[in-house]
Amino acid sequence: MNTSSVAPLPIVILISGRGSNLQAIIDRTAAGELPVEIRAVISNRPSAAGLQLAGKAGLETRVIDHTGYADRETFDEALQACIDSYQPALVVLAGFMRILTPGFVEHYRGRMLNIHPSLLPDFPGLNTHQRALDAGHREVGASVHFVTEDTDGGPVLMQARVAVREDDTADSLAARVLEQEHRLYPQAIHWFADGRIFLDENGQIQLDGTLLEQPKTLSAEISAPC
Ligand code: GRF
Repeated sequence: MNTSSVAPLPIVILISGRGSNLQAIIDRTAAGELPVEIRAVISNRPSAAGLQLAGKAGLETRVIDHTGYADRETFDEALQACIDSYQPALVVLAGFMRILTPGFVEHYRGRMLNIHPSLLPDFPGLNTHQRALDAGHREVGASVHFVTEDTDGGPVLMQARVAVREDDTADSLAARVLEQEHRLYPQAIHWFADGRIFLDENGQIQLDGTLLEQPKTLSAEISAPC
């Protein structure tokens, strides 16, 4: 797929809460720095603050409340139908706090990204910053990866790294990592929109036609073209 320069890439963004990554994507898009068309923002929680942010930006919002469904399968079916009605080329998970069923993940294979607040494969799951501190890590960060059945375990495209300070707490680390997330996610989406990255038949990432052996590290150098 090559969506370079002309038509913006149609995307749908899934959220569950605050929506700061959503806002970063909205801002970069509005600034003309990210060639995407956000067709809808969907939340599984009616109270998600991100819904207000999306509404303020004039975006279409939908709520598929997971508490109204008997099981994961029926919820994911409803969610999939809602997403597909917008015909996105990419589904962007931005703080979407749900374990996804295998059928749902397979349906969006190679066209669903997630951002996770750790240097994967370290610390999949929750409470990443406290766990990194407890383990004595001197460096933490965030990762953007393709979504696979393995929760937070899909191939990682790009990471941002943050040095741990002596007096850091989980909260202070989370704040500094979040700043980097807001640079990282738009950059990764930009690469996808430009047709530079895709998931090959072996489940590995190809970047500019070459196997990506290691996640790219976000730096001034690679964020420049965005
Ligand atoms: C972020 O830390 C993201 O990495 C994780 O969930 C959090 C969402 O934050 N998956 P926000 O809703 O984007 O502010």
